[in-house]
Amino acid sequence: MTRGDAVTNCMVPDNLEAKLKKYALGLRHVVADEITESDLIQIGVGAFSPLSGFMSEGDYNSVVENMRLQNGSVWPIPITLPVTDETAAKIKFQDDIAIIRQDGTLAAVMRVESIYQPQILHEAQRVYKTTDTAHPGVNRLYTRGSTYLGGPVQVLRDERTDAFSDSFYTPEQTRQQFAKFGWKTIVGFQTRNPIHRAHEYIQKTALETVDGLFLNPLVGPTKSDDVPAEVRLRAYQAILQYYYPKDRVFFGVYKAAMRYAGPREAIMHALVRRNYGCTHFIVGRDHAGVGDYYGTYDAQKIFENFSAEELGITPLFFEHAFYCRKCSGMATTKSCPHSETDRVILSGTKVRQMLREGIAPPPEFSRAEVVDVLMEHYQHHPSIR
Ligand code: ADX
Repeated sequence: MTRGDAVTNCMVPDNLEAKLKKYALGLRHVVADEITESDLIQIGVGAFSPLSGFMSEGDYNSVVENMRLQNGSVWPIPITLPVTDETAAKIKFQDDIAIIRQDGTLAAVMRVESIYQPQILHEAQRVYKTTDTAHPGVNRLYTRGSTYLGGPVQVLRDERTDAFSDSFYTPEQTRQQFAKFGWKTIVGFQTRNPIHRAHEYIQKTALETVDGLFLNPLVGPTKSDDVPAEVRLRAYQAILQYYYPKDRVFFGVYKAAMRYAGPREAIMHALVRRNYGCTHFIVGRDHAGVGDYYGTYDAQKIFENFSAEELGITPLFFEHAFYCRKCSGMATTKSCPHSETDRVILSGTKVRQMLREGIAPPPEFSRAEVVDVLMEHYQHHPSIR
């Protein structure tokens, strides 16, 4: 699909909800883990278009091998429903099953069109480029379930509210907003971190040439040492209030799970932002990476395999950005001639260590308003890594 095509909407219409809930009472059920819960949100609203359910064996194999669905559409990461073999043994082809949230409410009904045993080691190697259990995305694969169920889903509204409810939008809603603002070109930005100066620099560099910025941080499940999403939300609100032009930025959360799949996840992140109505998508250094599993620019190089037309969105690549003391400003090696010793570069691990020790990261790295929010959190939760 290309940009502008209607997204697949898998939400159950309000007037059919009660009927489906009643029907689901008589179905065999599967309890969703936090990834399945978050995947269902994206599938429901069409953020994962063209997916309309969990992948069948044919699509799964095609995605693992070729980063495409069987119909040729680009899709780089398996979106699957893993269950234990014991659960799978009770489910038959063409059954309808109820997918239950962890709190016992009904998340979706799925028609089972495929039951299959994935080669999980092979999936890990192809998708994550490693079988190492220390990789958080791979580790999850090993612990989720060894039979996958595939089929189309009908998703029910999640009636619970949380800190993110007010800033969650469907692709249909963001497309309408962008049209209302009169924006023709919109750059999407993915992050799982508080916004630091390098993020701000690449966003604003892009914003110089497009009409609007869609700031779309991921707030679904992440690894335990990432800054909690609720804390990040406060930091996003602080920085938006003081440093961004209100009429050029639209803020909305992305409730998906982080896979840490580096290059392949960068493609998926771009497709999702296309669905949300963006024309451009920022890919900087080690996008969606973790540890040393991916080369600094692998997540940019992977885009060479696809045309902007088939993706429906144009990637904007940025080199590693930093503050240069000699330039007295943000730069990258593309624009700064000075040496490494003039640059303020801090890793995420280093920053978290500083915060735990009560040391404020310098203003060259992060805005004071963001640091205040983070310091407050880490001082009260010193054990959080
Ligand atoms: S991600 O896992 O969601 O990609 P992160 O929040 O670190 O993590 O990054 C958000 C986006 O900013 C990604 O496109 C990433 O490549 C980019 N990025 C992060 N830090 C830098 C930096 N110092 N220089 C250039 N790009 C960066």
